Amino acid sequence: MPEPAETVSPLLKSCPPSLPATAYIDPQWYARECDRIWRREWIYAGRMNDLPANTLRRVETAAGACLVARGAEDRVSAFLNVCPHRGAELCGAADRDFNGALITCPYHAWAYDLDGRLRSTAFATPTPDFDRAAHGLTGVAHRVWNGCLFLCLSDDPPDFSPDLGLAALDNWPMDRLVTGHAMEVELACNWKVFWENYNECLHCPGIHPALSRRVPVYRQGVMSAAETSAPGAAGPALEPGTQSWTVDGRPCGPEFPDLSAAERAAGHTFVTIYPGVFLVAHVDYLRIVSLTPLAPERTRLRAEWLFAPETLAAPGFDLGNVVDFAATVLAEDGAACEMNQRGLRTPGFRAGRLMPQEFEIRAFHDWVLARLDD
Ligand code: FES
Ligand SMILES: [Fe+2]
Repeated sequence: MPEPAETVSPLLKSCPPSLPATAYIDPQWYARECDRIWRREWIYAGRMNDLPANTLRRVETAAGACLVARGAEDRVSAFLNVCPHRGAELCGAADRDFNGALITCPYHAWAYDLDGRLRSTAFATPTPDFDRAAHGLTGVAHRVWNGCLFLCLSDDPPDFSPDLGLAALDNWPMDRLVTGHAMEVELACNWKVFWENYNECLHCPGIHPALSRRVPVYRQGVMSAAETSAPGAAGPALEPGTQSWTVDGRPCGPEFPDLSAAERAAGHTFVTIYPGVFLVAHVDYLRIVSLTPLAPERTRLRAEWLFAPETLAAPGFDLGNVVDFAATVLAEDGAACEMNQRGLRTPGFRAGRLMPQEFEIRAFHDWVLARLDD
């Protein structure tokens, strides 16, 4: 008879090998991941609140650059960021304003509507046999969930339901939150190194002193009380007297009104959406951390801090008290990831070993390998 779920330990029953070192270095392995994973999965592409109407934006993904167009009345379109005339990029690093209806190529001014149809060839005069209908922009699947934009470059995108796990944040007022702060950093590591580090807390006591004080269970080197019988592990989720991931531990503004008692007590609610993003919701604010692979050993990390507008506008609101706490954790993790990557390049190193507490890394490897084997 199967054991009830709550009594099944998540710990691994053995110490399996990690991925081969080549998985973090080899350009061919990386190219396969770009094609089999980053081209096929839903990828977080930012908050709608940060994309004004009548704006064109380039969104870089590991499977190619996309163009997102937000027209008037909140209409959103997404395409590959390439003009069918001779292949110019439609939008560069800086956002472009447009009239909300026609996307004009900056090279020879061909114009496309928000369905991607070619509307004008400007100064060029095609011969009668030129098929305009065959020279529109290539559409990219997109979906807006509670103010978050997701793209999928596949012709046959996987289901978005059940909301990629985002329903766990139903009690947070996601669509009205605004970005109070954002930061980007480039890490000298493979994107999987970032997720592996995210998926274990064996490093927490040594790498994250302040975080391990705030979240007592992390002091045991585990992510949740379910993984350990160590004394005190089943106590409060956050250090007594604190309610959030801020420097002083106090909420940065009013707590979100619709959270359940369990959500308040948890102190943090994580939603992980491979391959590109995780969200962490607290009682007073929310953080979105997304990654974009740039090369086998280079990954861009972006973090966004989201607040209720009234929290940001409140007199005395202290942004630094919020941002500095998680920014420190991210910097500690970034340094650890780069240290890991440098070691992975050591000639003769073939593969590491996973410990029983690294069960989430094992699950992540299974997720990756299942897609590469497909
Ligand atoms: S490349 Fe875009 S109009 Fe020529
Ligand atoms: Fe960490």
